Amino acid sequence: MKSDRKIKILRFARSLAYARDDKKMDLMDKIISLAKRRGFIYPGSEIYGGLSGFWDYGPLGIELKKNIKRQWWKNMVYDRPDVVGIDAAIIMNPAVWRSSGHLDAFTDPLIECKICHQRIRADYVDLKKEHEKIHQGKKIDWTEPKSFNLLTEVLLGTTEPKLKAYLRGEITQGVFVNFQNVVNSTRIKIPFGIAQIGKAFRNEITPGNFSFRSREFEQMELEYFVKPNEKEAEKLFEFWKKKRMMWYVKLGIKAQHLRLRDHKADERAHYARFATDIEYNSPFGWKEFEGIHHRGDWDLGRHKLTYKDSQTNEEYTPFVLETSGGVDRAALFFLIDAYHEENDRVILKLNPILAPFKAAVFPLLANKKELVDIAREIYQSLSKNYYVAWDSRGNIGKRYYSQDEIGTPFCLTVDYDTLSDNTVTVRFRDTTKQERVKKENLIEFFTKQLHQTSI
Ligand code: GAP
Repeated sequence: MKSDRKIKILRFARSLAYARDDKKMDLMDKIISLAKRRGFIYPGSEIYGGLSGFWDYGPLGIELKKNIKRQWWKNMVYDRPDVVGIDAAIIMNPAVWRSSGHLDAFTDPLIECKICHQRIRADYVDLKKEHEKIHQGKKIDWTEPKSFNLLTEVLLGTTEPKLKAYLRGEITQGVFVNFQNVVNSTRIKIPFGIAQIGKAFRNEITPGNFSFRSREFEQMELEYFVKPNEKEAEKLFEFWKKKRMMWYVKLGIKAQHLRLRDHKADERAHYARFATDIEYNSPFGWKEFEGIHHRGDWDLGRHKLTYKDSQTNEEYTPFVLETSGGVDRAALFFLIDAYHEENDRVILKLNPILAPFKAAVFPLLANKKELVDIAREIYQSLSKNYYVAWDSRGNIGKRYYSQDEIGTPFCLTVDYDTLSDNTVTVRFRDTTKQERVKKENLIEFFTKQLHQTSI
């Protein structure tokens, strides 16, 4: 039997664990509220009651997503002579999905509660527990797991019978069906990569955790083609795992919030020889951020595509290494990781390169024409290169508070000193330190500041 002291310690430890969880969920509520209030993410078709698994991005959310995608494209395409990009159609000939194996194997296990007929994913243990709570201790009888295909069907054509096609369940197949086109229309040679960013759709059984698991989402993917040599492929698999993990860290995700987790054989997608997830320690647990997959010759083999080396005349089916990240998950996790509270201030400590606005310009007083005119001139000149906010309402403190909450890294104030010495106050978001910078040096100042945070 445990001693009283041991029981007390155990109770205390458990209460701490619960307190920590409550604090984390509180954080999620704050993120959801901030996202809606300030125009990052809204529930999809909200005025009609919303639609489960669909989200709309507001004026700041679209900027955050665009900045993430721009950094990804720069790092994966522009910085690499061995990678080119494409943008394939969302709807493809349904034969693509038959060949790729998705019609048979792109499934999740579904179970149904025999009391209320609610359907959930059989492998989501937490959801099962939640559901049991709803029925207040009644013993729930679940149906046997059934395989449920995730591809979203669409009907094409105007006359019956219409053609049943699918919204793509992964953007990847658009790359494979264009493999030959890219080889024939460019001078690229193996090893090389094809990159793509675009929408994917999955008929998820249980979308949830805000925008984390949606039915419509965006992916950013690289398919890297190599000779079918297992040793070389495994080396590259390790290379991409590290490179992708570092990309998130360099852009500001705290390294201790990320980990790599190898898939067990029974978790792997039908196309994967090996798979490793980059996971993020979110308020709802460690969750998949990005998947790194060794797809072997599965896809090109299924599409009956080969590569001919123009120098040696050797013909083979290349292996494919894939990095597949979600743009929406990145937007959500960057928001969560950047969220800070200091005293009564909320600060989004986003990397300036990702922040929606790069700067905000204020005239000290809205009714002093000479200050407003100079501030307008600065605003217009910075706007040629950067997305810049303007604010002349309320007092300066409130304006800082408002910009901190959306992650604007620099606030510029035109005050009475500007009239005499031609300088403006630049206030830094994270330190609240202030510096006076000459008006004519502002562009150079910003270029330098942003260059330091670029990757
Ligand atoms: N082409 C490989 C592939 O699609 P995946 O692991 O199924 O692999 C890759 O998906 C990434 O796409 C995930 O790591 C995640 O970031 C994103 N993703 C997948 N399903 C999603 C969903 N329902 N909602 C939001 N993002 C999703």
